[in-house]
Amino acid sequence: MKQPTGNRYPVTGNKTGRTTKFKTMNCKSKPDIFIIFGGTGDLNSRKLAPALYNLFIDNWLPPQFSIIGTGRTKLTDEAYRNNLLEDINQFSRSGHADPAKWQEFSQHIFYQVSDLTKIETYQELGDRIKKHQDEWQKPATIIFYLAVSPHFFKPIAENIAACKLADDVDNTRLVIEKPFGNDLESATALNKLLGSMFEEKQIYRIDHYLGKETVQNILAFRFANSIFEPIWNRNYIEYVQISVTEKLGVEERGDYYEGSGALRDMIQNHILQLLCLIAMEPPVNFEGEEVRSRKVDVLRAMRPFSSEDVRKHTARGQYGDGWIQGKQVPCYRDEPKVSPKSNTETFAAIKFFVDNWRWQNVPFYVRTGKRMHETASVITIQFKDVPHLIFPGEATDNWQQNRLIISIQPEMSIRLQVQAKRPGLDIVLNTVDMVFDYESAYSSYTPEAYETLLLDTILGDQTLFMRGDQVEAAWALIMPILNSWQNRKSVNFPNYSADSWGPELAEALIARDGFHWVTLPQNNKKK
Ligand code: BG6
Repeated sequence: MKQPTGNRYPVTGNKTGRTTKFKTMNCKSKPDIFIIFGGTGDLNSRKLAPALYNLFIDNWLPPQFSIIGTGRTKLTDEAYRNNLLEDINQFSRSGHADPAKWQEFSQHIFYQVSDLTKIETYQELGDRIKKHQDEWQKPATIIFYLAVSPHFFKPIAENIAACKLADDVDNTRLVIEKPFGNDLESATALNKLLGSMFEEKQIYRIDHYLGKETVQNILAFRFANSIFEPIWNRNYIEYVQISVTEKLGVEERGDYYEGSGALRDMIQNHILQLLCLIAMEPPVNFEGEEVRSRKVDVLRAMRPFSSEDVRKHTARGQYGDGWIQGKQVPCYRDEPKVSPKSNTETFAAIKFFVDNWRWQNVPFYVRTGKRMHETASVITIQFKDVPHLIFPGEATDNWQQNRLIISIQPEMSIRLQVQAKRPGLDIVLNTVDMVFDYESAYSSYTPEAYETLLLDTILGDQTLFMRGDQVEAAWALIMPILNSWQNRKSVNFPNYSADSWGPELAEALIARDGFHWVTLPQNNKKK
């Protein structure tokens, strides 16, 4: 059980750094037991089961491990295994499961019919844990994965604590899926609740963006190269843009999305995490607590929003109907389980500032939206213009300031856009791209974010997970916007059509400063 400490988020809690990732033996030296609450749910089908299977076939799991899925449906172990096989065949990055590997892997999978509000469920889990450990004659790392709706977080946590299933703080972990709270108050309450029963080093709050290869690479790009750091500041950078757009609509998720909206669903977590990686100071080392502390520093330095700022520096939108790839798609208000008068935003654009020496007055424009023209997550860093132009006007018709464009997905690349002389007898300058593209640079496969995050959980490495204070700081920042949007109903929803780049308000937000939203050059795009 957790011992009381003065500081809720002690920065000395977990010293295990990212270097553990290279010690393959570490994750194989001890058995693992994964308990998946929500074992029959969508997240387990699409992400967790395929990720565990891929970790297994890539030899990252120890010889002794068990996966216990829980759910309300009555299923035998065999039926559950068959369901997971179908999921893996459909969703795994490695394609259909190899029959021999599957046979071996599936023997580690078990199912427990469970009511998550009843203590008997946890007593039974306790018996199963004991049985496995007795059989192996070794203690295991026990991972409780909460892939369930947030209203189950409390009963699960309380019952685990009541049954003393997580008393061994070094060997038990709780993985909590988003949404972590619905606002600052609920997130703080959830942190307090978990903090009263578990140590911070046991709590793994997932933001799956942090597990993406290209997102992890932002740290490598910034801190493993000497040439960027000297220009990574207000003296050289004009603005930063983070654009995460999706072609998909809300579709079957209306129930959840009505209570969320783009601000909560994407900006409070994924986009602010990307912003922190771009804006953070160099950490002293690569240890989890150090990296996470530097990210919290960014959130603490972000300029709070007054009501005037909300009016001037934000734009929201909701999609109307339209056509996507020859198919007619409904407007948001006509999606299942959505109110016909819904005020929920499916698009948000915000101009942030980070008030510190490095970033003073450099705007950070972010936008995200559903049913947009393209699915693309792209970070653009635009550098300031040359101080003095020596070329004649006719040579610079296509002039563009230097840009660094980090494409997170679907294209995975980093491109530096520079001016070059076009070959010929005239002096004509145009923009060319120096591109690092994962596909051509590496022949190895790219692991899914959930593989990385599950492996890190086994290893006890919290670097890519959100600390409690980080989550609270992110909520605190967006609360004025949330409150204002909730209190002032939008009169012009829907205000962008499907397959567009969002509402005009978002174009105006950035155009007022003389800029525009950047997209990847057409000829390089992945479909
Ligand atoms: C989730 C959001 O966290 O991230 C979804 O709830 C969104 O609405 C998804 O579609 C985007 O993730 P990815 O990995 O597809 O970019």
